This record gives sequence, structure tokens and C-alpha cells, in this order.
Amino acid sequence: MKVAVFSTSNYDEAFLSKHNTGHEIKFFKVSLSEETMTLAEGFEAICIFVNDVLNQKILDKLKESGLKVVVLRCAGFNNVDVRHATQLGIPVMRVPAYSPEAVAEHAMALILTLNRKTHKAYNRVREGNFSLERLMGINLNQRKVAVIGTGHIGQAFCRILNGFGCHIKAYDPFPNKELQNSGVKYGTLKETLKDADIISLHCPLTADTQHLINAERLSYIKPGAMLINTGRGGLIDTSAIIAALKTGLIGALGLDVYEQESDFFFQDFSESIIQDEQLSQLISFPNVLITGHQGFLTHEAMTEIANVTFNNIDAFNDGLALLNRIEINA
Ligand code: NAI
Repeated sequence: MKVAVFSTSNYDEAFLSKHNTGHEIKFFKVSLSEETMTLAEGFEAICIFVNDVLNQKILDKLKESGLKVVVLRCAGFNNVDVRHATQLGIPVMRVPAYSPEAVAEHAMALILTLNRKTHKAYNRVREGNFSLERLMGINLNQRKVAVIGTGHIGQAFCRILNGFGCHIKAYDPFPNKELQNSGVKYGTLKETLKDADIISLHCPLTADTQHLINAERLSYIKPGAMLINTGRGGLIDTSAIIAALKTGLIGALGLDVYEQESDFFFQDFSESIIQDEQLSQLISFPNVLITGHQGFLTHEAMTEIANVTFNNIDAFNDGLALLNRIEINA
């Protein structure tokens, strides 16, 4: 099939080229948007990523020019109007779980870095400063951690937390039996957030979870708690979290995703002025650590993403069952 692949970095092109099962693929470094949608005209398939936009207008236009199938190189699909695609008869497939451990391990990396301040120690030591002032952390052993969303990534994260000897509380509309048997205690969202030392978000971004962490919920969390978000930026109300950081209500914040990330992430702005007051403010706080949506970026995950993406295209092309299709009642 003729496949237009959007938002590619060099590593995407390398992994997708290596695992291509014989399709005619064209890479576009730009993301898919109303401004760039003409690039996709004439392609039967488009392959997109987290910050590509596939709304009603783009879908209508691309349907006219022969679009037959959409494959996402990710698990989350909040950026795609799947309902409209379904109405147009265009299946949307995703990579539901490429390597949950990759994201779960990144969440733990954020926690360990913020807690033991290794990013600061690295810079200090390079400048010959061996002072330990202001580097003190806490033991994770016996600490209470709230896990919001216990799907593939949340479960992998709980397994890591168990290794650290943490007390795990979780919230998910569909509690997981295996986790319960391993000692994870489920409660309501409020119960789960209330007395946690660390809160980590692993649920999808939906209408229900938009601004899940807002001013009201921040008002009852334990003062000084650490918040980690490797899910989607929209799970946190950015204005509310900045206010909570200023008052010390939030003791540390680790983000791999950001509400307005599509304007910046995956691009190099090192020679520019960041035109986003909230992002600039967050970057300036000493207790905030931001990574640019790299949770998925491991060798294992990229291999799996490339393989499943081509399996999805092949299944459509060969008229087989579309096992990774996102099902929405049109
Ligand atoms: P999953 O679909 O396996 O699990 C999601 C879980 O969230 C399910 O158990 C579901 O019941 C639960 N959930 C749904 N609504 C909820 C709510 N209101 N409150 C609490 N839990 C709720 O998804 P997976 O693979 O674990 O991924 C989770 C999210 O992580 C994805 O939707 C995506 O947004 C994000 N992600 C981030 C990556 C990164 O590189 N930072 C990479 C991959 C995924």
C-alpha cells in the first residue's frame, strides 16, 4: 500500500524502514494538521503519532483523495476523531501495548531523579561542587504511591513499585485481580489521591479524565506530594498545578507530557524563545522535571511499534481481522 508517515524523527524512519513488509512508504517530518493535510492526498494509508491531528475536516478531505486506513504508532488516540473515521468506513488501528515497561520505567526514572536530585548532582560535580546541601531525598521503601489507571503501563509500574517496597493504592474503574492479589489496594479516586506521597497518572485522556488533576482535587492531596504524569498532558490542569507548586502543595512535579506539547515536543527550540508562558514557568521551577514525551523511546518499544504497525497495515491489505482496530459505536 502507499503509506504516508507523519511526524517522523530519524529513529522512526530507521525502525519503520527496517521492519517494512513491502509497502511504499513516504516519510514526512512535519505533523499532520489542516495546514499539512494536502501532503497525505493520494495515499491509501496514513501512519500517525501522538501529536498529529486527525479531525473531521482532515478525514473528509483525505477520504475524498482515497484514504482507506489509519494506523497509529501509539496506544493513545485522543488526537483522532475515531467516531467520524468509523462513519466514513475508515478503520483506525493502534499499537495497544508495545512495551508498557518502557513508560513505567520512565515514570520511575522521573521519580528517582526528582527524589534524589541526580540531575542536580551531575551538574554540581562537573563544576567541582561536592556539597550535599539541598540534595536530600526520601526512602521510597514503605512510602504510599497512588497509581491512577492500572492498564498495561499502570500494572508494569505497580510491579516496579512492589520491588521498591512501596504501599500501592490504585484507582481504575476496572480493578485488576492480579494486582489486588499482589497487595495493591483499590479505592475511590479521592481515597487514592488523599494520603499518597507520590501520585502517578497512567490513564488515557478522555472527556472523563480531562483535567483529572484540577484545583479541587489538589486541595485534598497530601501537602508536598510528588506528581508524575507520563499519560497525556490534558490529565493535568496546568494553571492549577502551577498554583499548587507556588504554594508548595505539590512538592515535586515530573512530566513526560504537557497540555500544549504539540507546539513544542519532538522539535528543537534550543535557539528560540519558548512562546508559552506556562511551559517556561514550569521549566524554571527547581522541583519540576520535564522530558519531551520520551517514555516510549526504548529499542524494544520501537521494534514492537514498527512490527505491529506493519501487521496492522498487512491485516487491512489482506482482508484479515483487524485485531488492533479502535472500536467506537458510530
Ligand atoms: P491501557 O488502555 O492498557 O490502560 C488504561 C487504563 O486506564 C485502563 O485500565 C482503564 O480502565 C483505565 N482508566 C480509564 N478511565 C480511567 C479513569 N477515569 N480513571 C482511572 N483509570 C482509568 O493503556 P496503557 O497502555 O496502560 O497506557 C495508558 C496511557 O499512557 C495511554 O492512554 C497514553 O495516553 C499514555 N502513554 C504514554 C506514553 C509515553 O511515551 N509517555 C506511551 C504510551 C502510552
